Amino acid sequence: MTYIDAAAAPLRKNGQIKIYGPEAFEGMRKAGQLVARCLDMLVPEVQPGVPTDRIDRLVFEFAMDHGAYPATLMYRGYPRSTCTSINHVVCHGIPNDKPLREGDIVNVDVTLILDGWHGDSSRMYGVGEIPRKAERLIDVTFESMNRGIAAIRPGATAGDIGFAIESFVEGHNMSVVRDFCGHGLGRLFHDEPNIVHAGRRGEGVPLRAGMLFTVEPMINLGRPHVKVLSDGWTAVTRDRSLSAQFEHTVGVTETGVEVFTYSPMGLDKPPVISGRH
Ligand code: MF3
Ligand code: CO
Ligand code: CO
Repeated sequence: MTYIDAAAAPLRKNGQIKIYGPEAFEGMRKAGQLVARCLDMLVPEVQPGVPTDRIDRLVFEFAMDHGAYPATLMYRGYPRSTCTSINHVVCHGIPNDKPLREGDIVNVDVTLILDGWHGDSSRMYGVGEIPRKAERLIDVTFESMNRGIAAIRPGATAGDIGFAIESFVEGHNMSVVRDFCGHGLGRLFHDEPNIVHAGRRGEGVPLRAGMLFTVEPMINLGRPHVKVLSDGWTAVTRDRSLSAQFEHTVGVTETGVEVFTYSPMGLDKPPVISGRH
């Protein structure tokens, strides 16, 4: 794996890892903060009876109101402004007119392009009162993402991120999805390198200051295996167990890591109400 100054790199995926400068970090900060505000805006909107279509429309309108564009819209044929992944849906759930039901858990994943820079983040939202095991899954998934992010600094490796996530998750008898991973991004939505959410310490791509990528672990209560439904997008757990995901966009700094998509309202893990079901 080789690295290249992003300013001198072709504007496409070419097998090299782009190293970005201060103007890129400034652009990513703005795009990341806009996504975070969008996900904050959704917190009171995710309620029993609300169709995911409505969430999608709110995100589209938010983007339009703020001079941004939803990166997923028409991306490789994907038809919507968000992914809404409910219960055993692992990722890439397509918003539709079915109302959310009390007890559902839903991941809303938003990527906004602002001034050419991509901010990509997702959170789990509880619909009404959710089962305790769902809350536990959400808590472990959120903590695993944060442990993965905490492993980031120049000289660490992608495997250190994966190890931090996998060891924590498996310690709670949950499993890490292997079929989807985090990704480099910047002016592109999906770029080198892949950030796998499982691995061994010291293995994989060495991290360097100036790298931009996402950390977005998908964690299952049951087995890690997934299948994609006939719509070509919706990925579900093969054993139909519950799945959760959180995602932040980050940059590697000289001293560690900068998270671009932190919630300005402290809603990185939206509050849930949990009880027996
Ligand atoms: N936002 C997703 C990610 O985290 C990608 C969704 S691509 C889509 O990388 F086409 F499914 F929308
Ligand atoms: Co992503
Ligand atoms: Co995303």
